[in-house]
Amino acid sequence: MKYNTFFKLILFGFVGAFIVTSCTKEGPVGAAGADGTNGIDGNQSCLACHSQANVDAVRTQYAASGHGNPGFELGYAGVRTGCMECHSSEGFTAHAMGYDPSSNLNFASKITCATCHGDHRSLEEGISAPMRAMAPVLSKADGVTVFDFEGSSNTCASCHQSRANGNLYADVDSVWNKDGSFAFSVHADSVYLSSTHASPHYTTMTNNIFGVGGYADEAGKVMGAHKNAGCVGCHMGEAESGKTNGGHTMLASVASCKTCHSSATNFDIGGVQTATNNAEEAIAQALVVKGILDENHDAVVGMYHKDVFEAYWNYKIIHYDGSAGVHNPDYTEKLIAHAKQKLGL
Ligand code: HEC
Ligand code: HEC
Ligand code: HEC
Ligand code: HEC
Ligand code: HEC
Ligand code: HEC
Repeated sequence: MKYNTFFKLILFGFVGAFIVTSCTKEGPVGAAGADGTNGIDGNQSCLACHSQANVDAVRTQYAASGHGNPGFELGYAGVRTGCMECHSSEGFTAHAMGYDPSSNLNFASKITCATCHGDHRSLEEGISAPMRAMAPVLSKADGVTVFDFEGSSNTCASCHQSRANGNLYADVDSVWNKDGSFAFSVHADSVYLSSTHASPHYTTMTNNIFGVGGYADEAGKVMGAHKNAGCVGCHMGEAESGKTNGGHTMLASVASCKTCHSSATNFDIGGVQTATNNAEEAIAQALVVKGILDENHDAVVGMYHKDVFEAYWNYKIIHYDGSAGVHNPDYTEKLIAHAKQKLGL
């Protein structure tokens, strides 16, 4: 609390200083108005974002967001090497500056304003919200694909991407004991699922939008229109009336779909979410029968035919994507078709 107030004072001190200077000298000048009328005042352009009302609104939205309410993984993944870059403010800012600590942190704090926002490199006319990480993002899962939303959604892509592809498990042909001795070999038709956590990680949206990472009969395609909208276009748009979404809640809103799908009344456009949810459930039930999932849909360690493994991996991708097919409807359909075929559904 103290910190917030202190920070605000500093920030508004700065803005204030600017406003004072711009009254006496030439501050940032607004765009020239039409027909010889005056342009917008430079100070007004700062206040579009920095007014007290706007900052309060952003903070209220943020307080309701997933980032503002991290679960237990903040104190756990937030301090760990290999995890902290996505799970804490300290980890992400260090990573964005090109430094990944080689040992665990003692302390981690939650993702907050300064985690995503850097500073304005200049205060010229037309500046936008300063972002810390705008560069295209290299896929962690395959180390080759480059995700580029050409805008501030690259910030989201840095963290909301898969950490592994299925080959991390599928390519293993011998298993070793902890003491280094040989345990058993894996038949070419089989995959050893060595962990109940075996998955692409809980966050596969970026990979899906770019149509990569799952098992499919033909290569996936980038969902161009949704890539152009970007995470920000659907998750930070206008709120729906009476609902807490959009803006810094970062929850998708139907209002943001309407910029392109003008007649949308919910996210289930063309029945894609219903179809995806039904297919996901059918695939999960078949995976329970095969024994790779238990009744709670948690993974079971063991040896499985690679067809079963591929269906399992696609199931995890679809499940952890969280949009029931919206991020990339066409690619999701391909993943479902492949899984069903491998399971004989
Ligand atoms: C520093 C890494 C990081 C960045 C950058 C980031 N996120 Fe997240 N996001 C997370 C983590 C970690 C969680 C889970 C929070 C928790 O529960 O601990 C999360 C949660 C969410 C949730 C809530 C998920 C749920 O199941 O309730 C949404 C929605 C979301 N992020 C969207 C976005 C969008 C949109 C952006 C870009 C504007 C973004 N995130 C940028 C790491 C990040
Ligand atoms: C590339 C970024 C990234 C890395 C690296 C990463 N995570 Fe995550 N993790 C996320 C995001 C983003 C979410 C939130 C997904 C959501 O809610 O949509 C998440 C979610 C989780 C969850 C919550 C799952 C749930 O059901 O609420 C746990 C636990 C977790 N991660 C543990 C870890 C651990 C442990 C490590 C290191 C071994 C790690 N993560 C590394 C991005 C990452
Ligand atoms: C997970 C990343 C993330 C976090 C955390 C975050 N922002 Fe943002 N913020 C963004 C993105 C992305 C945009 C949109 C940038 C663009 O494309 O113009 C944005 C835009 C803004 C804007 C301009 C648009 C508007 O809504 O007025 C303000 C002001 C702002 N952020 C303030 C804050 C404050 C204050 C906090 C902390 C309470 C915060 N942000 C936390 C990602 C983030
Ligand atoms: C499009 C939205 C937007 C506009 C316009 C904008 N800012 Fe910002 N500014 C932000 C966001 C977002 C942050 C970082 C989050 C925060 O600190 O609230 C920020 C941070 C700052 C900071 C602290 C970090 C730094 O860069 O040193 C100062 C000072 C600042 N703004 C001054 C200004 C001034 C002066 C103007 C007008 C010339 C201006 N801003 C216009 C969104 C904006
Ligand atoms: C075409 C619009 C669109 C785009 C682009 C988009 N999303 Fe989504 N996203 C959605 C919808 C719709 C949902 C499902 C929300 C629901 O059913 O409540 C969703 C679900 C999610 C969820 C699960 C939590 C939740 O809100 O229910 C996360 C996390 C998420 N998206 C993050 C991202 C990230 C990160 C990006 C960019 C890499 C992105 N999304 C791009 C529309 C979009
Ligand atoms: C920037 C424009 C844009 C935005 C914003 C956008 N979409 Fe789309 N969406 C499209 C276009 C264009 C297509 C069809 C393109 C194609 O099939 O390749 C499409 C296709 C779809 C489909 C497949 C429809 C079908 O019948 O197969 C679904 C589902 C969908 N969008 C959901 C959403 C949801 C939900 C949102 C808001 C959260 C959203 N879209 C936001 C442009 C957009």
